[in-house]
Amino acid sequence: MLTDYEGFKVKVLKLTGINLSCYKERQMKRRIDSLIRKNNYDDYDNYFRALVQNPKLYDEFINYLTINVSEFYRNPTQWEILEKEIMPGIIKPGRIPKIWSAACSTGEEPYSLAMMMSRLVDISSLKILATDIDDGAIEKAMAGVYSSKSLENLPKEFISNYFTKEGEKYKISDKIKSCIKFEHHNLLEDKYPEKCDLIVCRNVMIYFTEEAKATMHNKFRESLNDNGVLFVGSTEQIILPQRYKLAPLRTFFYKRSGQA
Ligand SMILES: C[S@@+](CC[C@H](N)C(=O)[O-])C[C@H]1O[C@@H](n2cnc3c(N)ncnc32)[C@H](O)[C@@H]1O
Repeated sequence: MLTDYEGFKVKVLKLTGINLSCYKERQMKRRIDSLIRKNNYDDYDNYFRALVQNPKLYDEFINYLTINVSEFYRNPTQWEILEKEIMPGIIKPGRIPKIWSAACSTGEEPYSLAMMMSRLVDISSLKILATDIDDGAIEKAMAGVYSSKSLENLPKEFISNYFTKEGEKYKISDKIKSCIKFEHHNLLEDKYPEKCDLIVCRNVMIYFTEEAKATMHNKFRESLNDNGVLFVGSTEQIILPQRYKLAPLRTFFYKRSGQA
């Protein structure tokens, strides 16, 4: 039995900027304990000391904590709703909408957004902000090279128009890449961008405590333009969205409403 998780959390926050207290405790502690054991440590202190000294161990720790699983057009039905029902309310003539893909992982989500937008507007001046806490994931996103598995749900026309096959892998085109601005961002600590027309934040809120989620919902609302929309993951429906002055549009889509 590993002891002093509380002390470990304080040190991890100082070292990485990641506040483990905001993540669901049981799930997170179980993951960390199993990683520590896998590396043959038997207490938090020794493992933490090794983390500080060994960059490989540090990278493994960050990677393990952040769970980077993603894919293009994850939950395709919701992407169809986004394109056909939500975007027409967002796109205004002569104005490119401001889109933020928060917790974008290895880039599948912001690139999916850019491809979807190519059906709706001229994307030559589109700039989607894509952020994540994990710099390793952002690096992979910027490289833009993917397995065929991650492309399974993507409309076929996008694969032929926007990817080139390199061996077993698929490389995203510069046209789509140039639509995305990748940045490091911690949803728990950093300032949120302003006046977003669409915020896509999917499959990360499930890892947070109720309190942290409530703070994030308020911050997302503040971040949205009037009538801006928040798109969440398929297990992340917001209970009582009116508490955050958000109005449900369709399942998983919420519109900013009223004054905070
Ligand atoms: C499961 S992935 C979701 C990727 C994508 N949004 C999707 O739905 O396919 C979760 C991502 O959340 C990021 N993440 C975890 N904690 C975060 C935080 N505090 N701030 C920003 N990103 C965070 C992780 O690094 C990881 O890339």
